[in-house]
Amino acid sequence: MLKRRADGWATRFGLIMAMAGNAVGLGNFLRFPGKAAPFGGAFMVPYFIALALVGIPLMWMEWTIGRHGGSYDHGSAPGMFHRLWPNRISKYLGIFGVLLPAMVGVYYVYIESWSLGYAWQTATGAYWGQTSNEEMGEVFTNYLGIDGGFFSFSPQAYIFFLITFAVNIFVFSRGIERGIEIVARYCMPTLLVLGGILAVRVLTLPPVEGRTISDGLAQIWRIDDWTVLLKSDVWIAASGQIFFTLSVGLGMIHTYASYLKKKEDITLSGLASCGTNEFVEVILGSTIAIPAAVVFFGVTQTQIIAEQGTFALGFFALPVIFQQMPGGQFFGTLWFVLLFLAGLTSSMAMFTPLLVFLEDELQLTRRQGVFCVGVGIFVLMQPIILFMHHGLVDELDYWMGEFGLVLFVAIETVLFAWIYGMDKGWKEMHLGAELQVPRIFYYIMKYVTPVFTVSLVVWWFYDSFIDQVFMRGVDPASQPYLWLARLMMLGMAAFLIFGVWYAWKTHPKFFDSADTPEEEEVL
Ligand code: PHE
Repeated sequence: MLKRRADGWATRFGLIMAMAGNAVGLGNFLRFPGKAAPFGGAFMVPYFIALALVGIPLMWMEWTIGRHGGSYDHGSAPGMFHRLWPNRISKYLGIFGVLLPAMVGVYYVYIESWSLGYAWQTATGAYWGQTSNEEMGEVFTNYLGIDGGFFSFSPQAYIFFLITFAVNIFVFSRGIERGIEIVARYCMPTLLVLGGILAVRVLTLPPVEGRTISDGLAQIWRIDDWTVLLKSDVWIAASGQIFFTLSVGLGMIHTYASYLKKKEDITLSGLASCGTNEFVEVILGSTIAIPAAVVFFGVTQTQIIAEQGTFALGFFALPVIFQQMPGGQFFGTLWFVLLFLAGLTSSMAMFTPLLVFLEDELQLTRRQGVFCVGVGIFVLMQPIILFMHHGLVDELDYWMGEFGLVLFVAIETVLFAWIYGMDKGWKEMHLGAELQVPRIFYYIMKYVTPVFTVSLVVWWFYDSFIDQVFMRGVDPASQPYLWLARLMMLGMAAFLIFGVWYAWKTHPKFFDSADTPEEEEVL
């Protein structure tokens, strides 16, 4: 007899906090300001359009696919896709939903550990006295141990990595109700309070050389140049940010949603978690980094900093600013603790699809599963850390967090809206619904979302795929290391393909429709 899934969400508040925590992450506080600043206020136009046309619809779709799959005891995308489209290839398409989050997690956890390391360094005043962006840039490379040597290794960064990794494994090994839900219930409200305190601190900053906080807010909220909207890059950047921040297109939402009961509300809870994420991103995320940087450095300099990369605003510019304000050490520590909590509530969701795949489809016990995931992921993380200076994070991020994500989103929207069928999908989504979604979203989900996402895949192929495959413009000395990163991704994919093949071969009964009389109810 195959085992049934016993775990689940204990409370609705816990569910919404966990889903919101899944979405609220480093992306809200680091990536969002970094993406928005170069474009000015014009960024927010495509941002909100993408939220309405793809972000929210995708969120509902993923919750629905997840709950539907979960009712057949499938907690990860291969089984869920098979249930949407009982066909020989659908389960293999679902592999992306396990591969992508796990491989994103491989580098995300390391980045998360930097926030913990910086919280410590700020609290102890370790870098106090380094008062320019350039000096803080050096503090950063020293912290990571990037010194021109063969390895990028520093004992300090490694210790914080080990702590962060252990916390992640501990939380997710305790499962949904006793691990993830409990952590989310405490961490998310704490995060909101910390974000609120920092936002108020920034809003009450005195002017510096005539630059006020309103100048800072204008950088996000005032549109000076509408012509920016005529270029495709702002649209791509904004929709990419929507996917990233909502954590859609990876398979993580699916797994959390698979623990919903058959008739537990999706529409209202999904919208609530989306809303929480947007509040944190648009209100808190936009009030902290950019306005503070504009007040202290001016608009032009802020844009230059933002363009240096995702971490420049949060890890270089803000520490410089904290050093110049009263109580800066306190607020600086809060900032990095905030980043750590945001990262943790996201990363604990990233390995869950893999663990659940091992449990549900390969019939491993929880202990065996946690052991395999823990050891496997730990091994994969080592090259990422040690050879970071060769750009392994960017390579993984391109294939998993950008290209792979867009591909997975296109597959799932087509599968849901066109193959499973929007009529069935709409009904399934509204089972037990506490909010009747306006009919217009039926058409958006049926036409706009799939067409938009499929077009994005085409655009990615056209824009960067070939250059990326052939590593154009990459230093030849780094290329072997990027191949290593690719081998890791391919190795994980091969394992999952084998896993799916094996599961479907050895437990064919589990996948019979006769096993699940509830099917009729849905139709
Ligand atoms: N959405 C989260 C964030 O904003 C986490 C996440 C990012 C998840 C990227 C997957 C990929 O950071």
